[in-house]
Amino acid sequence: MAKTFVIANQKGGVGKTTTSVNLAAALAKLGRRTLLVDLDPQGNATMGSGIDKRALEHSVYELLIGQCALAEAVRPAGTGGYDVLPANRELAGAEVELVGLERRETRLRDALAEAEDRYDFVLIDCPPSLSLLTLNGFCAANGVIIPMQCEYYALEGLSDLVNTIRKVHANFNTRLQVIGLLRVMFDPRMTLSQQVSAQLEQHFGDKVFGTIIPRNVRLAEAPSYGMPGVEFDPGSKGAKAYIAFAGELIERLDRIAAGAAAVRTPAAPRAASPAAPSADTTAAASAIPARAPAGAPAGAPAAASAPAAVPAGVPTPADIDAQAAPNPRPQTREQAFPQPKNPDPQQ
Ligand SMILES: Nc1ncnc2c1ncn2[C@@H]1O[C@H](COP(=O)(O)OP(=O)(O)OP(=O)(O)O)[C@@H](O)[C@H]1O
Ligand SMILES: [Mg+2]
Repeated sequence: MAKTFVIANQKGGVGKTTTSVNLAAALAKLGRRTLLVDLDPQGNATMGSGIDKRALEHSVYELLIGQCALAEAVRPAGTGGYDVLPANRELAGAEVELVGLERRETRLRDALAEAEDRYDFVLIDCPPSLSLLTLNGFCAANGVIIPMQCEYYALEGLSDLVNTIRKVHANFNTRLQVIGLLRVMFDPRMTLSQQVSAQLEQHFGDKVFGTIIPRNVRLAEAPSYGMPGVEFDPGSKGAKAYIAFAGELIERLDRIAAGAAAVRTPAAPRAASPAAPSADTTAAASAIPARAPAGAPAGAPAAASAPAAVPAGVPTPADIDAQAAPNPRPQTREQAFPQPKNPDPQQ
């Protein structure tokens, strides 16, 4: 059965698409059958996978409004060995059209049901908003991966994202959980990057992935060639980091599954520390800053080793663990997600 992850952060330009495309290609490299769903009308994941968004016969838009079947819309990526459910600007119209349709939040989940047995992983690239499209992504997924830049405003908006995830968990999808926060576009030369990175680790503990994606120009160049960075330049630091991340994700899922089994069998001890890195993770370790045991990334200058306090209002690790934290009181659908106002100014 496919594991479905949504790559979400309502902040724009934080690396959601770069993570989705490269993780899809990296999982495929590790032998996993992977489908990448482009749920953003910008169609960047589509173009970045070598598919021309202007020449689509069918897209995720038609699928969501019930005008085509999954198999009609899915295409193989140009390179990388994964499949793509592509999108283009038509998808922006779906926001409005979905409002009038039955089960508007779960259209994607219903549409992806037949992908369950065909893929090991389904990755959903979200737009930079907490819109009905993103809500469809959350309802279709088992887990959320949150890419974050290590910059001053990184944590801003995280509580809105977490609240939305918890509401979805309470109202639509009890399988949904935050799998982890992924630090991206990390610049080891910047003291601020190191401080924020350490702050994230201190505050969120092992909810933060150990792999750090460095800022790397090859990752930024790859989309203009219609290729994932891991295919465009497999030897680059960015590509190696995404391969390492795919390995870490697979291990983390195994740990989560083992943890669930341990809950069912109380005698089994819970893993106290992250699992040992895989061969892939180790191979790429030299390309990325290692996770520093004392809270600061390896190589950080002394001045950068004391992270500033996390601002008030930032969710706690328990908050972001929708499975562990008590759910907010279940609400009606309208209370949880009020219907958007009618876009027609006449009414
Ligand atoms: N690790 C990286 N190193 C260098 N450039 C990067 C890296 N990750 C992303 N970028 C570049 O940063 C820009 C934003 O990245 P991306 O499109 O992945 O963000 P996004 O969160 O999907 O944006 P949006 O919110 O608009 O969908 C792109 O130009 C991308 O090539
Ligand atoms: Mg994007």
